[in-house]
Amino acid sequence: MLDKRLVAAVALYSLYLLYKRSKDPYVKYNKHVPKAWTIPVVKNLTDVLFHYWDSDEQAVKRARQYGGKTWVGEIPGVGKMFHLESPEMIEFMLKDQFEMFIKGDYLHWALEPVMGNGIFNVDGQAWKVQRKAISNIFHVKNFRDFFMHIFVEHTEKVLCVLGKAADSGKELDFHDLMHRFTLKTFSKIAFGYDFDLVENTDPESNRFGKAFNRAQAIAARRVGTPTAWFEERFLGVGKELEDSVAILDETVYKVIEARRQDIAAGKQTDDLLDRFMRLKDDDGNQLSDVMLRDLVMNMLVAGRDTTAEALSWLIYLLADAPKAKEQIRNEVAEMCSARPDYNEIQNLKYTHAAILEGQRLHPSVPHDVKEAKEDLFLPDGTFIGKGDAVVWSNYAMGRAPYLWGDDVDEFKLERFLVTDPETGNLSVKNESQYKFPVFNAGPRVCLGMNMAILEGKTTLAMMLREFDFEIMPNPPVVGDRNITHLMRWGMNVKVKRIQV
Ligand code: HEM
Repeated sequence: MLDKRLVAAVALYSLYLLYKRSKDPYVKYNKHVPKAWTIPVVKNLTDVLFHYWDSDEQAVKRARQYGGKTWVGEIPGVGKMFHLESPEMIEFMLKDQFEMFIKGDYLHWALEPVMGNGIFNVDGQAWKVQRKAISNIFHVKNFRDFFMHIFVEHTEKVLCVLGKAADSGKELDFHDLMHRFTLKTFSKIAFGYDFDLVENTDPESNRFGKAFNRAQAIAARRVGTPTAWFEERFLGVGKELEDSVAILDETVYKVIEARRQDIAAGKQTDDLLDRFMRLKDDDGNQLSDVMLRDLVMNMLVAGRDTTAEALSWLIYLLADAPKAKEQIRNEVAEMCSARPDYNEIQNLKYTHAAILEGQRLHPSVPHDVKEAKEDLFLPDGTFIGKGDAVVWSNYAMGRAPYLWGDDVDEFKLERFLVTDPETGNLSVKNESQYKFPVFNAGPRVCLGMNMAILEGKTTLAMMLREFDFEIMPNPPVVGDRNITHLMRWGMNVKVKRIQV
């Protein structure tokens, strides 16, 4: 009798589970969505353990395997992650349904130690106010009359360091040099603060840069790694994060204090820091020092890392692309003086295409993530639940044959150039933001894109006209796992003088 009751109960419960499953929207609507579980039950947990360091390559493999179709992964304890790697889905997420895909609480918590409530880490009104303040400094007059002089002046200091390395025959960590250069340049432009970084190559001088990389790496590990809290609490990683953030804070508060002293001394400035200092909070009060710190920190991530990585990976790629290097050198020799001005740099087309082609193969922001604010359907019919993560890989999209053709692995400047059939004039191709979202797209498109391209072109042109670089095999050049596309061990080069 008991057995019969038990069998009936089990049967009823099974029916209930089947009924529930049939009503589960993920089951009901997402039959067409490839599920990239590595092992049932633990699903993609093994990817975190075994593919943490080559996750970008894994993303390339999956994008190629699924041909750009939306696919889903899941990490127990973290949740579902929908991967979008087609221009249609990217446009839907970043533009058409912009309000429905937010940074969200999870990402905010993960990045909070470094980014705080700065522009990269907030949504809604807080984002709008900061975006408006920042966008005010990125106009052509500022580029031409102010930024350009600083790019040239600071690149000349880089040339000096390269010249010494060439003459001594010693190897040099180019990746480190580029981070010193962009930090110095951006702090000067945005905050009027001069870091003694390019001239002073002593490793101690870059305490701030090292702390920055470490703090960001720990914050990035929180995203999608269920053991991150354990490592922070019990394996000393939390203390490391705290110490790194303390070094960052000390420097950033120094920058803010220096400006306060300038104001007290009656010095007139009108840069990004001034604009941040003039902002008011919701109650009409001036921003607190903590808020100012967050704004400055976010802009340092934007202005330092991305451009330094763009230049480092580009030099790496050009070492194996002699034709492209020659095209750039010929153009620079023909159109540019040794101390180029704004118009000369604007006219460089091959050099511009090189920055974009570099970003295609090694995007400074290799992947990105948002959270669904509500339940919704993608245009391809995929159901996404409120709170699910939506991930896209610029790295995988840039290497997708379904977007770029079968020669996708080749570094080819022609990919980003068009020739007018009537005049024969060359121009830079205006590629769709949704096919090529390396600078993001839609209302949150990168505010510094034009500045980064101008800086990158200027520095590349000035360096390639005088020097060539041989990439050393040790340490190996490999990507790091971080918010931006750092090289894990740096990149040692031997520098040679050349004459264009
Ligand atoms: C190669 C160089 C660069 C690349 C590839 C790049 C890429 C990006 C990407 C992908 C985002 C979106 C990030 C996100 O919200 O998830 C972004 C946002 C942003 N970038 Fe850049 N960036 C570059 C250089 C710069 C520079 C030099 C600046 C500033 C001076 C800058 C300022 C910003 C700002 C303020 C945002 C936030 C926009 C918003 O949320 O509304 N970027 N950038």
